[in-house]
Amino acid sequence: MFVESVVRWGAWSILLAGLGVSGGGCPSRCTCRPEAKEVICSGKHLNSVPEGFSSDAKRLDLSYNKLKTVGRRQFSGLQLLQELDLSDNLISMMEVEAFQGLSNLRTLRIKNNRLKIIPVGVFSGLSSLRFLDLSQNEILVFLDYTFKDMSNLQILEATENDLVFISQRAFFGLTNVVELNLDRSNLTSIPTEALSQLPSLTRLCMLRLTIPSIPNNAFRRLHRLRSLVISSWPFLDSLASNSLIGLNLTSLVISNCNLSEIPYPALRHLVYLRFLDLSYNPITVIQRNLLGDLLRLQELHLAGGSLVRIDPGAFKGLTNFRMLNVSSNQLSTLEETAFQAVGNLQVLRLDGNPLACDCRLLWVVRRRLRLNFDGFQPTCASPDAVRQRQFRDFSEKELPRLFTCRPARIQDRRPQEARVEEGTTVLFSCKADGDPAPAITWISSQRNVISPTGRIRVLPNGTLEVRYAQVHDSGAYQCLAGNTAGNDSLTVGLFVKGVPRNRSIPIFIDESWIEPTHMTQTANSSSQMAKPYPFDAKTLIIATTMGFLSFLSSVAICFVFMFFWSQSKGQIKHTATIDFVPRSSMGGGGDGGDGGRFTMKLI
Ligand SMILES: *[C@@H]1O[C@H](CO)[C@@H](O)[C@H](O)[C@H]1NC(C)=O
Ligand SMILES: *[C@@H]1O[C@H](CO)[C@@H](O)[C@H](O)[C@H]1NC(C)=O
Ligand SMILES: *[C@@H]1O[C@H](CO)[C@@H](O)[C@H](O)[C@H]1NC(C)=O
Ligand SMILES: *[C@@H]1O[C@H](CO)[C@@H](O)[C@H](O)[C@H]1NC(C)=O
Ligand SMILES: *[C@@H]1O[C@H](CO)[C@@H](O)[C@H](O)[C@H]1NC(C)=O
Ligand SMILES: *[C@@H]1O[C@H](CO)[C@@H](O)[C@H](O)[C@H]1NC(C)=O
Ligand SMILES: *[C@@H]1O[C@H](CO)[C@@H](O)[C@H](O)[C@H]1NC(C)=O
Ligand SMILES: *[C@@H]1O[C@H](CO)[C@@H](O)[C@H](O)[C@H]1NC(C)=O
Repeated sequence: MFVESVVRWGAWSILLAGLGVSGGGCPSRCTCRPEAKEVICSGKHLNSVPEGFSSDAKRLDLSYNKLKTVGRRQFSGLQLLQELDLSDNLISMMEVEAFQGLSNLRTLRIKNNRLKIIPVGVFSGLSSLRFLDLSQNEILVFLDYTFKDMSNLQILEATENDLVFISQRAFFGLTNVVELNLDRSNLTSIPTEALSQLPSLTRLCMLRLTIPSIPNNAFRRLHRLRSLVISSWPFLDSLASNSLIGLNLTSLVISNCNLSEIPYPALRHLVYLRFLDLSYNPITVIQRNLLGDLLRLQELHLAGGSLVRIDPGAFKGLTNFRMLNVSSNQLSTLEETAFQAVGNLQVLRLDGNPLACDCRLLWVVRRRLRLNFDGFQPTCASPDAVRQRQFRDFSEKELPRLFTCRPARIQDRRPQEARVEEGTTVLFSCKADGDPAPAITWISSQRNVISPTGRIRVLPNGTLEVRYAQVHDSGAYQCLAGNTAGNDSLTVGLFVKGVPRNRSIPIFIDESWIEPTHMTQTANSSSQMAKPYPFDAKTLIIATTMGFLSFLSSVAICFVFMFFWSQSKGQIKHTATIDFVPRSSMGGGGDGGDGGRFTMKLI
């Protein structure tokens, strides 16, 4: 818009100049528009700020020139100036009080110059300034009190600088800044202390930083902050659980980072959050029931992630939820049960996922004309019959035939019963088919779910393995196979007979085997088996002997030492005195020779 108006005014001014209307007080090479009180000197190859402005100018455009410095009180005659544009010059130096006298200036643009440092006092006198653009310079630090007189500043643009440090009181005095943009700088940590000087900040945007984590209390005292944008921090892989504490956000973006899971604990207190964008993070799962605290959440974007699963109940409690954007992930399905009320959902981006078009997605395809896919139709990746077909292409008639599931069914239903002796390893198979592929769970006779690790475990192919069977393992085990369409189960029996222990039966404790050699006990006592006596007599004798030997050798060595010590007695000094000259202190210690001294006692 700005460029457009410059162009337009350029054209106008040429016309007016041609007519000889150009008013008095206009520097040569500049075009002036007296009615609008504008002076435009953009792109005139100026090496210095020209002289002779009319003192009632409100807008001065010096962009696209070759200005190198801005001198002290350079614009002091222009008390009515409201807008000054110094962008796209070669300015590397601004003197203290450069803008003194511009008490009505509202907008100052110094974008795309070569500033490396801003001396304190450069901006003094700019008490009306609302907008300051310092982006695309080479500024390294913001010093304390740099902006101290700018109590009306509202927007500070500081993107694309080489900032390595923002001093703690750099933003002192910026009581009305509502928006701060820190894009692509070399900060290595969040300038917490400096930011806490911005009590009115409502929008903070920090892009392209190399900060690896957000610590607790990173955004202290930003009570008015409503929108936080953190994007393109390639090393950011964690948010401490209290990192966002104190904030009351309505919009949060943490995108293009390296988060591998949703930072639930850090988000929990954001009960006013309406917009959450976690796109382009390697997040794999949206877990059940963990977003429920975000009562007012309306939109969740997690596009371009690594999502493989959205659990049932993932959006439970989110009654206002109306947009889910999970395009370009690895999801095979999205079940209706993920949502609190699927009727409220308006926009769904599900494209770019390897969708398995079965009964679980029937709810989406049924709503395909009502739901807004934002122009990106979901596409089936399987089964083969519908591969590559877009949701909108399905006719109502073919849906019941295509979007179907087959309930889980256990294939081999022959009764399995194992009668074995203690110490044997037993396998019970449980194979099920169905569409989608059923999940297999084994339940013990005590109704515990058996895990994939331990002595009794479920193998990846669904087989139950009981290693080194114990008498107390006896009982019924139940295999449950289930998918969305239905469940099936199968019960098997295990009977373990105790044998007199005249041979060693290893027992399994904490994923490792212990060989008890002297277990005379019969099958009973699991308590004893948990704490086996770990040595036999032979071992004990050897251990004791070795212990005794090493004891003897230690004593011998001691004697040798004592001998040598007693020989050298009298020659060894028992104290050492160390002299040192302390580094000259601030005052400059003149009297030489009087250094420091301390004494160590040797024992
Ligand atoms: C800031 O980072 C950029 C890109 O990594 C690098 O080229 C530049 O030298 C850095 N500047 C400073 C002052 O460290
Ligand atoms: C992102 O995280 C993964 C592991 O979580 C790590 O291997 C990778 O190096 C990280 N990437 C960056 C840019 O730090
Ligand atoms: C949090 O923000 C919301 C929305 O801006 C506002 O209504 C609410 O009063 C704020 N709560 C606090 C404690 O500041
Ligand atoms: C979904 O996310 C993608 C990637 O961030 C974005 O381009 C798109 O605009 C989002 N869709 C909606 C409806 O916001
Ligand atoms: C399951 O895997 C185990 C070990 O990998 C194997 O011994 C067993 O035969 C397999 N069972 C079936 C039913 O494939
Ligand atoms: C299958 O079992 C699960 C858990 O026991 C139950 O929640 C679900 O309703 C069952 N599904 C069917 C179709 O019976
Ligand atoms: C002990 O083990 C041997 C063979 O390992 C067997 O012949 C014997 O019957 C077992 N029982 C007793 C009580 O010795
Ligand atoms: C097994 O040992 C426990 C105590 O360790 C005892 O209470 C129980 O009676 C014993 N059972 C048999 C069958 O010996």
